[in-house]
Amino acid sequence: MTNPEVQDVLGVMEFSFNLSQYFEKVVSEAAERIKTVDETFEPQMRIADERFGDFQANGALPYAKRNGLNPKEFAQAIVEKTESSDCWEISIAGPGFINFKLKPKFLLTWLQELGDMENTKRHLLAGSPRRFVIDYSGPNTAKQMHVGHIRSTIIGESLARLLALQGHTVIRDNHLGDWGTQFGILLYAIKREDISLDELGEEPVAVLEDLYRKGNSWVKKSPEALNIARLELAKLQNGDEENLSLWQKIRELSLGTFEQVYELLGVRFDYAQGESFYRDQVKEIYSVLQKHEICTENQGALVVFHSEHKRFAKQPFIIRKSDGASNYATTDLATLAYRKKEWGAEHIIYVTDGRQRDHFEQLFMTVKKWFQVERMECPTLSHVWFGTILGKDNKAIKTREGQPVKLMKLLLEAIDRAKKMVQEKNPDLQEKEVERRAKIIGLGAVRYADLSQDRTLDYVFSWDKMLALQGNTSPYLQYAVARIHSLFRKVGKNRSDLTKTSISPQSDSERKLARKISFFPLAIEQTTKELKPHTLCVYLFELATEFSSFYNQEKVMTEDQDTQNLRLFLCAKTQIVLELGLEILGIETLEQM
Ligand code: ARG
Repeated sequence: MTNPEVQDVLGVMEFSFNLSQYFEKVVSEAAERIKTVDETFEPQMRIADERFGDFQANGALPYAKRNGLNPKEFAQAIVEKTESSDCWEISIAGPGFINFKLKPKFLLTWLQELGDMENTKRHLLAGSPRRFVIDYSGPNTAKQMHVGHIRSTIIGESLARLLALQGHTVIRDNHLGDWGTQFGILLYAIKREDISLDELGEEPVAVLEDLYRKGNSWVKKSPEALNIARLELAKLQNGDEENLSLWQKIRELSLGTFEQVYELLGVRFDYAQGESFYRDQVKEIYSVLQKHEICTENQGALVVFHSEHKRFAKQPFIIRKSDGASNYATTDLATLAYRKKEWGAEHIIYVTDGRQRDHFEQLFMTVKKWFQVERMECPTLSHVWFGTILGKDNKAIKTREGQPVKLMKLLLEAIDRAKKMVQEKNPDLQEKEVERRAKIIGLGAVRYADLSQDRTLDYVFSWDKMLALQGNTSPYLQYAVARIHSLFRKVGKNRSDLTKTSISPQSDSERKLARKISFFPLAIEQTTKELKPHTLCVYLFELATEFSSFYNQEKVMTEDQDTQNLRLFLCAKTQIVLELGLEILGIETLEQM
């Protein structure tokens, strides 16, 4: 995909979107030319310390130490075996770090080759696309989605976008909790109160939730009530028509409510099969795991012990309860087999909170054993887990009444707060436009506050922090994008006019900005490897900060046309990368804020 012009500057080198991977290859090839070096040598590419270069290979040092070589001499030997190039300079820093510094002309060519938005997206496409299933959101029917589901929905959606943009096939599956023992109690309460599910009003799921709570307190007080609830559950599980149709109705009402949240967040699932879909497949699971002696009977239950594991040798994975009922584990086993068989899943990603870590570890171990005896290839399995959202008191966030915070309410409040911000800045703006901007800023703020934290950590929810125009926030990034739009308006140019420039980045801040843009592919690579969106957020924040200092230091609207053109070109590239990064995070941008 190299155009002749690039060839010209790059010599024999083809355009490499990911420069880190390119230099990795350069170093590996140089090392291969040294006869004594074996295949345990790894270049270990990093972003270099700005003072020394742009990309740095750290691998010479550990290799030399392992093999009793002098690190500096070994690094020097690699440098000598590296083919010379007009594109970069190579040097050694410290005890044996090999640094590459991109020449301005090369940096410029790289940026030009990046192209417009469409072209940049084309560069993202992976060489070998795979089939992913992403299991996220997964709320429980008859209950409102609470703030705990926000992380799964937001993180899962962002990973889905990240992988889809790289050309992978992504199947988005909403694994609803729609087949649990709670339905016995709920059905009992519905009948006892003689409720019609068609007349639940504006917030049907809130009513169902209350009913469930009532039912729960009844069965706790009375063994008789508990018995009736059990019978209702058994009837449902045995296919009783009345109960099934009530259950179905509850499911529809719940999905309708969830849909409002998804609509607001721009989330769309390919499937929402949920636990109930697999209820007839659980017998098959028992028999196949019994046949292969992967599970055993234990005090009436069917369980899997993993003797090779410290904890799971004693802490069993229960796949059938002692009362004969299936559970979360059973449906997850059936679901996994189904995704492999019916959808050809090559990689399955589960996005849930960290308290389910044991469940997934045991699930994965069990499935691997099962697939191995059947000589089936097991999909790659990843549990993408996350921490808790905390309130100001550093405890899991709750309403003043001590209830979990409802997701819909939270999103609407974010929009409301953003609305005040927009109105303050633009007192004369039309109401409709105020609302449009408020939605983009408010929802972006909630999303980014979540995604910008390492997902494995808990974080404290703060309206002021997430809506601030300064700092690592979505409004700050959106503002950088809007500022560039305003520049283009001032000079009367479109981004599409700014595809080429005749001079290379020269000043310190021009160079720094160009360099930062060239790290984008690496940020995407790392985010994908770790399935951690905050890595991308860190990069975008650094890029916006770099842009900000560039903007403060350099006059974009300078007299000299070539310089002006170069600076506008750098703005255009910055904007493309910011917009694309935000798109992956599910955040829209604005031309004016
Ligand atoms: N319903 C579950 C919950 O609310 C999440 C489902 C996650 N997916 C799965 N395949 N287990 O915690």
